[in-house]
Amino acid sequence: MLPSYLTQNSSSPLTHLDLLAMKQRGEKIVCLTAYDASFSALIDAAGIDVILVGDSLGMVIQGHATTLPVKIDDMIYHTRCVTKMCKRALVIADLPFMTYATPESAAQNAAALIQTGGAQMVKLEGAKIETVQFLVAQGISVCGHLGLLPQFIHQLGGYKVQGKVAEAAAQLVADAVTIQNAGATLLILECVPADLARQITEQLTIPVIGIGAGNSCDGQVLVVYDMLGISTGKRPRFSKNFLSDTNSIESALKNYSTAVKQGEFPSVAHSF
Ligand code: KIV
Repeated sequence: MLPSYLTQNSSSPLTHLDLLAMKQRGEKIVCLTAYDASFSALIDAAGIDVILVGDSLGMVIQGHATTLPVKIDDMIYHTRCVTKMCKRALVIADLPFMTYATPESAAQNAAALIQTGGAQMVKLEGAKIETVQFLVAQGISVCGHLGLLPQFIHQLGGYKVQGKVAEAAAQLVADAVTIQNAGATLLILECVPADLARQITEQLTIPVIGIGAGNSCDGQVLVVYDMLGISTGKRPRFSKNFLSDTNSIESALKNYSTAVKQGEFPSVAHSF
């Protein structure tokens, strides 16, 4: 009899290979953040492909102004809550601020997100090539994150669209290619002009998930609280309240998924 990992069926958890196959056949990848078991179960049941346990939890769960105060223990706790109730979606967990300052600390913290949290992949911000290579060499799946980097907010001087001038755009393209070559199997592009995101998506063989990056990316991600209109602050221009047109969270999640799969979201109004 074949071992179970060779006989997985369609209800098995998605892997980065499934996401790659989706890119190759032109099927959009739908992603949302989640931080707890209940949202995880609802999002998973709605058929969303990827759940990101984002360090955005520093803002939407903990009430901080930035993601910087989030600790690795917070991420492990919330990742564990999410993975307990997730059957199909691939779960990515963020490595929070200063937990990947060296390749060794990155590996130790990524291991905790995987071993205790149950994540399948970890995400880190910026072109940390040596760190990506080191994690991949230990068997850790890595998602890169380029464009607006919330952990670099004090250096960036605000939540601004990145890659608007030619030099910055060229650097982003080069960083994306280098991250892919270092072994990352997914890339998130945040707040970059739609045309630049299209160029990067076409150039990379790995899937590119956008947030505020137009609709030519291979998939889209939003913070779940934003897309349900729960946020207390100003909703970012690239987000949309999917609950305002319906009367249940379940149908809002399904409508978001359908809108992404059909290429209707994000529209030009949600892009830069
Ligand atoms: O932390 C997060 O939620 C994220 C997304 C905004 C991409 O990194």
